[in-house]
Amino acid sequence: MSTFSTAGRVVLGAGVSEQVADLVAGLGRRVLVVAGRSADVAGLPAVAVHRHRGEPDVDAVRAAVAIARDVRPDVVVGWGGGSVLDLAKCVAVLAPGGTDVLDHLEVVGRGLPLPDAALPVVAVPSTAGTGAEVTANAPVRVPDRGVKASLRGRAMLPAVAVVDPLLTLGCPPDLTAASGADALTQCLEAYTTPQATPLTDPLARDGLVRAGRSLRRVVEHGDDVGARTDLSVAALQSGMALANARLGAVHGLAAALGGRLGAPHGQVCAAVLAATTAANVAALRRTDPHGPGLARYDDAAVALTGLPGARADDAVAWLADLVAALAVPGLGTLGLARDDVPDVVADALAASSTRGNPVTLTPAELTDVVAASW
Ligand SMILES: NC(=O)c1ccc[n+]([C@@H]2O[C@H](COP(=O)([O-])OP(=O)(O)OC[C@H]3O[C@@H](n4cnc5c(N)ncnc54)[C@H](O)[C@@H]3O)[C@@H](O)[C@H]2O)c1
Repeated sequence: MSTFSTAGRVVLGAGVSEQVADLVAGLGRRVLVVAGRSADVAGLPAVAVHRHRGEPDVDAVRAAVAIARDVRPDVVVGWGGGSVLDLAKCVAVLAPGGTDVLDHLEVVGRGLPLPDAALPVVAVPSTAGTGAEVTANAPVRVPDRGVKASLRGRAMLPAVAVVDPLLTLGCPPDLTAASGADALTQCLEAYTTPQATPLTDPLARDGLVRAGRSLRRVVEHGDDVGARTDLSVAALQSGMALANARLGAVHGLAAALGGRLGAPHGQVCAAVLAATTAANVAALRRTDPHGPGLARYDDAAVALTGLPGARADDAVAWLADLVAALAVPGLGTLGLARDDVPDVVADALAASSTRGNPVTLTPAELTDVVAASW
């Protein structure tokens, strides 16, 4: 059986962010806006505007929830990068009840189910990467545990996703590269996981085609609206796919590393992307050489490279070239300490995303991935 859940409505296209005020008006009168530092939300009628910067941690969620419990909104707008959208989703699901973020956090919290209902969220991404506008989870940093873990539940799906590629025109090259690498990784992991479905496959595969042809282009030519559109669509598709399939070991490692390093999530994914893919392909070739897992990487190679005869090894080489071209810093440069590697590997193995990986990687194989990504 396959199920497919996404935002209640998706509005996509150049300029559609001009419709946000009207879309919000149809959902409620008391509007709480959670916005990034540079988001232009002056046209929205709001009872409060909460500006946020940085990937949300437990304290940031508590502070934003406290504001919402004070102003009692009936609709929440999240307008910014994935971090801001996630914070808005956390607020919408936690504010109406009396519980704390740690009551519901996966892996390191109590993991209690989230409420079935939340305030409606209008999610307006200003980066092209996370797909958080259509996912049912929000990663939260837990600094004293050194990891990121998610709040997750269907009530976290936004009521409306407004995807306007023009909002990403201001993203500088390093942010464009990091967020674009996140979208590409999400499409690749959602396409190669055994939990992929007939409903997620076309989305993830088309996202690979779009990211494959446009990611380098958009980093070099940030004013190319066609390439920006490709990445916004790929990010949206990646979110739809991951929310209904699973991810894999790249995101498992990113959860373990992201809590320890201050580095952006997309950079962390990009740093381990090529080595993790190489490890997966090698392990599949050893354990199941004629199985569907390896065939999926062959097809992903065709989608990414645009070459009909491409095979899994071509995908690995293409990804290594991409990461080099994007000048993604390695894990050592991002600040990982050698002494932390065993804990990173243990946390990555326990991360929820790793359960979606197409093959079980051993601690030794993951340690090699970290070393190769240094
Ligand atoms: N919920 C999900 O399904 C999901 C999926 C993937 C990633 N994530 C999370 O999303 C976060 C990363 O989000 P992100 O990559 O969008 O980055 P981000 O939201 O952390 O933003 C990074 C920086 O970019 C700036 N920025 C945002 N839009 C801009 C624009 N248009 N022009 C110039 N600057 C802009 C922000 O102010 C911030 O300083 C991580 O916390 C990650 O864990 C969530």
